[in-house]
Amino acid sequence: MAAVAIATLSLTSVPCKKRLRHGASAFNAQQFINSSSHSYSLTLRPRLPKPRAASRVIVAQAGNGSGSYKVAILGAAGGIGQPLSLLAKMSPLVSALHLYDITNVEGVTADLSHCNTPAQVAGFTGKDALAGCLLGADVVVIPAGVLRKPGMTRDDLFSVNAGIVRDLVAAVADHAPGALVHVISNPVNSTVPIAAEVLKQKGAYDPRRLFGVTTLDVVRANAFVAARKGLPVADVDVPVVGGHAAATILPLLSKARPKAAAAAFTDEEVEELAARIRDAGTEVVEAKAGAGSATLSMAYAAARFLEASLRGLDGHDDVYECAYVQSQVVPELPFFACRVKLGRGGVEEVLASELRGLTDYEARELEDLKPRLKASIDKGIAYVQQNQEAALN
Ligand code: NAD
Ligand code: LMR
Repeated sequence: MAAVAIATLSLTSVPCKKRLRHGASAFNAQQFINSSSHSYSLTLRPRLPKPRAASRVIVAQAGNGSGSYKVAILGAAGGIGQPLSLLAKMSPLVSALHLYDITNVEGVTADLSHCNTPAQVAGFTGKDALAGCLLGADVVVIPAGVLRKPGMTRDDLFSVNAGIVRDLVAAVADHAPGALVHVISNPVNSTVPIAAEVLKQKGAYDPRRLFGVTTLDVVRANAFVAARKGLPVADVDVPVVGGHAAATILPLLSKARPKAAAAAFTDEEVEELAARIRDAGTEVVEAKAGAGSATLSMAYAAARFLEASLRGLDGHDDVYECAYVQSQVVPELPFFACRVKLGRGGVEEVLASELRGLTDYEARELEDLKPRLKASIDKGIAYVQQNQEAALN
């Protein structure tokens, strides 16, 4: 009964790909319902010998895997990591789910393994277990790091999260060099360039496979526009470009679907909606009053982007999402969030056409965000280069 309730919820809350050519894939609810009748056996046993006391590997299996992709989540025991792991466990495209964190993985792994869906779950903790977690991964999702408290900007997280992302991505380069990498840890505008530099240094950089996850901005834009215009949310699709911090977040309301809604926005509505979309992360940080930032909506958004990436790997040719990727759509910005087509190799195409025919307001906002985003990109690149020089001296 509970399974049916969850499946129904996922069907109504995910854009329908039949209606939205550019929408994300829906979770396959029918498969989820069917899988609820699978029997499962739980084994909790060490998979590798313990190299050191601090490193452990926990394997817990439930049923036979019928999906075909291995997904690793780094930071899996956190506020985003846990619900994201649950949503990934529900995906019919995931056959193996590897959970890594520096704390509390054992409990999350045991708990999740009791869901009788096909994906096999294994938990990994401690630096020595990271290689085993990553080995053979098709997609690595990184929500590891610290989060904002009221009064902080995302850039205030740089001093801690830069090092976390650098080290985790270095391990990805060593142990899963062919994986798609989804970076969630903030500040995304800088952590993605950091990841790119690390991958370059390791000779494992393929720009088509590195993504900053900005799906939450699209999810929010769709929700807010649907509510404002009284539209079914499944009909709404708003591209959001630029970056993922304050004024660098640029919703292109003139390009929203349905087109009739986009045409009907007044100037005041555009400004109000754009401000709400940009400040939505802060809205959650303040509402949680020190207890965290967006976790549930972020897990939902990350699961949507994960499912889209897996459908791309699986050969579907209708998979489009906005993401922060390397591109030349704005020549002075080596990284920019834009609609991309996803395929077997990751990014197949960056849809530069989305930036043509902007309204005066959008064109002004784009000019305004350029120096801000450039500064964040440069900061990330400099961080890796300076640390490399320091290591050499
Ligand atoms: P959280 O503190 O609840 O969880 C973070 C997890 O990372 C913790 O379990 C922690 O143990 C783990 N961790 C820390 N260092 C690690 C390391 N070296 N290796 C592995 N795991 C490590 O935070 P959260 O709410 O899950 O948010 C995580 C990050 O995601 C934050 O930086 C936050 O700002 C960011 N975020 C991004 C978006 C986005 O749209 N991209 C949205 C929301 C949050
Ligand atoms: C968000 O947009 O919710 C995240 O980037 C988290 C934050 O700190 O706002």
